[in-house]
Amino acid sequence: MNTKLETRTMHAWTQTRYGAPDAVQDVVVDIPLPGPLEVVVRVRASSINAADIHIMRGEPLLLRAFFGMRRPRVGTRGRDVSGTVVAVGSGVADLAIGDEVLGELAGGGLAEYVKTPADQLVRRPGALDPVAASALPLAGGTAWQAVELGGVAARQRVLVIGASGGVGTYTVQLAALRGAEVWALCGARSRKLVEDLGAARTFDYKTTDAAGLPAASFDAILDIAGTAPLRRLRSMLRPGGTLVLVSGEGGRLLGPIGRILRAGLLSRGAGGRRIRPLAARTKPELTAELAALAAEGRIRAAIERTWPLSEARNALAHVDAGHTVGKVVVVMAPA
Ligand SMILES: NC(=O)c1ccc[n+]([C@@H]2O[C@H](COP(=O)([O-])OP(=O)(O)OC[C@H]3O[C@@H](n4cnc5c(N)ncnc54)[C@H](OP(=O)(O)O)[C@@H]3O)[C@@H](O)[C@H]2O)c1
Repeated sequence: MNTKLETRTMHAWTQTRYGAPDAVQDVVVDIPLPGPLEVVVRVRASSINAADIHIMRGEPLLLRAFFGMRRPRVGTRGRDVSGTVVAVGSGVADLAIGDEVLGELAGGGLAEYVKTPADQLVRRPGALDPVAASALPLAGGTAWQAVELGGVAARQRVLVIGASGGVGTYTVQLAALRGAEVWALCGARSRKLVEDLGAARTFDYKTTDAAGLPAASFDAILDIAGTAPLRRLRSMLRPGGTLVLVSGEGGRLLGPIGRILRAGLLSRGAGGRRIRPLAARTKPELTAELAALAAEGRIRAAIERTWPLSEARNALAHVDAGHTVGKVVVVMAPA
């Protein structure tokens, strides 16, 4: 193992039970050491995603079968990380101490250091600052996969529902980048932002029911809010169009599963209109592509605000409240 660590302990926001943000505590623990094929990163910034909140609360309950039945197996939230490699385990060929990186990890970003398999990280381009970099992987990767699944292409008309959140702000940009005409449903205060990101038309979701938008007029609908009736959304598609379900409101036990099953039934006999649930995967190659686009200024992270690590719980509470505009980032003190 090769390391340039000078201290042995660190602060990490850690939970030993599922719950609201007060379940997450600032504790001092040993800095992890890298095993084979792993590196340790000194975290520079970590953005919060809806996924962190689902895991923090252990809801929907079905999620506990994958993340830990009694408590989260990874106790520290923060899946999106940018930082500097400070220790390298055996067998790591592509990264060295001092490299600036970003990536979507299994968690651990709300800490001064995090250990991860090296292959989850990509290099951060110099033109991309660490705060913006940390806001990219999960939300940007989800947006990319949603746009891809929707088959979004130039000159199509696309509706993004839930355009003002973390995933939505990237979805609007990536669809516009493909040359689509983007319509968006978002929070009223975020309409200007969403238009600046590339939406041709925006609507306040509280006063504009999706049912009020024209029928049979969209080539793709990317639903990141998950509340509008599926039958109505399907009727808004042109023949051959695709409805992508990124999110789905549901019960405390099974979450979006009910909506996904209904989507399967509605897809039958839908006149060539498809309904496709998205299960986004962590893809470092997408993170690298997103980082390159951001470094070239072709997409940007819309960052609502940052918090210092000492106040990470406030960042979690803010995202937990469900009204994030773009992204929320926890920023570490400079080394
Ligand atoms: N399928 C997958 O693989 C996958 C991957 C990642 C995320 N997701 C899911 O995607 C969802 C969105 O994640 P996110 O990080 O983007 O969330 P987020 O940042 O918390 O989204 C909040 C934003 O959505 C707006 N909003 C809330 N309800 C809305 C509605 N009914 N219509 C339109 N806009 C609405 C809010 O506006 P106001 O503040 O004005 O209310 C706020 O700006 C989550 O449910 C998450 O679990 C799924």
